[in-house]
Amino acid sequence: MLSLFSTLILGLTLCMYGLSSGSSVSNGSPWPMPMSFTQTDEVVVMSGAEEFRFIAAGDTCNILEAAFKRYRNIIFYGTPESSNWQKKSTKNDHLGKLLASSTLQNVAVTIKKCEDNEYPSLESDESYSLAVGDANSSIIANTIWGGLSGLETFSQLTYYNNDGMLVINKTTIQDSPRFSHRGLLVDTSRHFIKVPILLQNLDAMAYNKLNVFHWHIVDMQAFPYESINFPSLSETGAYSPSHVYTQEDVALVIEYARLRGIRVMPEFDTPGHTFNSWGSIKDLLTPCYSGDKPDGTFGPVNPTLNSTYDFLKSFMQEITSVFPDHYIHLGGDEVNFKCWQSNPQITDFMKAQGFGSDYSKLEEYYEQKLLDIMSDLNSGYAVWQEVIDNNVKVKNDTIVEVWLPKWQNEFAKVTSKGYRTLLTSTFYLNRVASPYGQDWKGYYGVDPQDFNGTDAQKKLVIGGEVCMWGEFVDGTNLIPRLWPRASAVSERLWSPQSVTSLDDAKIRIAEHRCRMVRRGLQVQPITGPGFCRVEF
Ligand SMILES: *[C@@H]1O[C@H](CO)[C@@H](O)[C@H](O)[C@H]1NC(C)=O
Ligand SMILES: *[C@@H]1O[C@H](CO)[C@@H](O)[C@H](O)[C@H]1NC(C)=O
Ligand SMILES: *[C@@H]1O[C@H](CO)[C@@H](O)[C@H](O)[C@H]1NC(C)=O
Ligand SMILES: *[C@@H]1O[C@H](CO)[C@@H](O)[C@H](O)[C@H]1NC(C)=O
Ligand SMILES: *[C@@H]1O[C@H](CO)[C@@H](O)[C@H](O)[C@H]1NC(C)=O
Repeated sequence: MLSLFSTLILGLTLCMYGLSSGSSVSNGSPWPMPMSFTQTDEVVVMSGAEEFRFIAAGDTCNILEAAFKRYRNIIFYGTPESSNWQKKSTKNDHLGKLLASSTLQNVAVTIKKCEDNEYPSLESDESYSLAVGDANSSIIANTIWGGLSGLETFSQLTYYNNDGMLVINKTTIQDSPRFSHRGLLVDTSRHFIKVPILLQNLDAMAYNKLNVFHWHIVDMQAFPYESINFPSLSETGAYSPSHVYTQEDVALVIEYARLRGIRVMPEFDTPGHTFNSWGSIKDLLTPCYSGDKPDGTFGPVNPTLNSTYDFLKSFMQEITSVFPDHYIHLGGDEVNFKCWQSNPQITDFMKAQGFGSDYSKLEEYYEQKLLDIMSDLNSGYAVWQEVIDNNVKVKNDTIVEVWLPKWQNEFAKVTSKGYRTLLTSTFYLNRVASPYGQDWKGYYGVDPQDFNGTDAQKKLVIGGEVCMWGEFVDGTNLIPRLWPRASAVSERLWSPQSVTSLDDAKIRIAEHRCRMVRRGLQVQPITGPGFCRVEF
């Protein structure tokens, strides 16, 4: 009878298949690799979709119930929405009934505490443990965020064997991320990206356990954020009236992210990167002079006027109430001093303040006032590295994001001053330097703690971010250009420092790529020739 032999035979078939095919793609291997992972070659057949259940064995909440539904669909039908993408993979409906006694039918999910008004944060406990046994399997976590990580991992352990049956190996996992800030920057200023694509990208982030969507929402080229208090910003700053994110759009993105354990950290980059999309705010930008006359162009925000801070106070008050995350990214990169230098009113101000000709003092004056505004609003903040490079003294809880080359020297410097830091220099995925080849290996090989510093300094490294700047990227290529190249970074930021084998990563990232394809994402091949069981 089928029921007696099936598990044994399955094991054998898979083994032989693995040998004969040269094993260029793993089967049911998780990405990113958990902290501790033990898998046996004992295979359990998944029950049919109808019989299968996740059971809330501890606290429950809507976030968890929604995730149960999503992952049940992902496991059995491929996509989270249970579309007709892969309906035929319900083959196990038949097997589930035949093999009722030896199939995996229930997964008990025990969450200590889960509340529906929770948001993930930098301090969230994302740990979980997972055990796949014969009939009973379990996921245990302190928080809903750990529970979501566990569900994602569980879904990745299931795979179709050579006979087209959905199976899972017996597995034990203890997991917790190496870094707590695992971000991905998307630039929606240089090109506008529609909300559905942003949501798709959040799905991909959840499949890779990236937990911060750094939304570089505006920049000098366009201001698509539709402000409540200052509607003129997008009215004159967006590419067109339809190239905007309304308050409803923003709320939708934040909620979609939250349900997947992802924080949304918006960036409103000042004082540079503002000309001319912020230009509708009267007197905000510095008029640049040629000789003794304004030349019609504008430079960075004018730090000398009280009206500047009145505006920032009101604007940031809105931003901190619209975006629930504790951290707002304040930019601060590439401040061009030339325009400030040309402006006589600013020269007078410098004199009165005793700044001499040191324009970084003026920058510091601006940043200090902005950070004070943020502190009064009870908000945390991140800035780009130039703020520190220009010797601006900032508050000790500032997060400094490093993007320029020679990041190791910068990390040594920034952490010696006691600031927490994030690495992006090595993760600029918008740069496609060698399109014909496996550039993911370069991202994979970076260790963010590989710099000269004390243990205390290394602890100040809280993670990193993939950057996808938008000069040459819009909705047509965001997803394929990012994935699965960004997966290489996601494993680097989640998995233990010792997980470095490229050979092992290669067969797992190939499977993970196919997994994302099956889930409906248009993600490109990156390990060379091969095939997916389900092609796009
Ligand atoms: C899972 O089980 C199959 C079949 O026995 C085996 O070939 C494979 O190596 C196992 N996977 C792992 C990671 O142990
Ligand atoms: C299955 O249940 C038994 C009895 O409660 C328990 O000892 C065992 O650890 C469980 N196995 C798994 C994988 O959860
Ligand atoms: C700007 O504000 C400061 C401090 O509140 C005040 O002393 C100063 O007079 C103000 N300047 C102008 C031009 O209003
Ligand atoms: C900042 O300084 C305060 C007071 O000295 C200290 O309690 C806090 O831990 C520091 N924060 C960081 C991130 O270093
Ligand atoms: C650390 O310092 C040593 C000795 O000064 C130097 O040789 C090495 O290149 C440095 N390593 C890094 C990663 O900067």
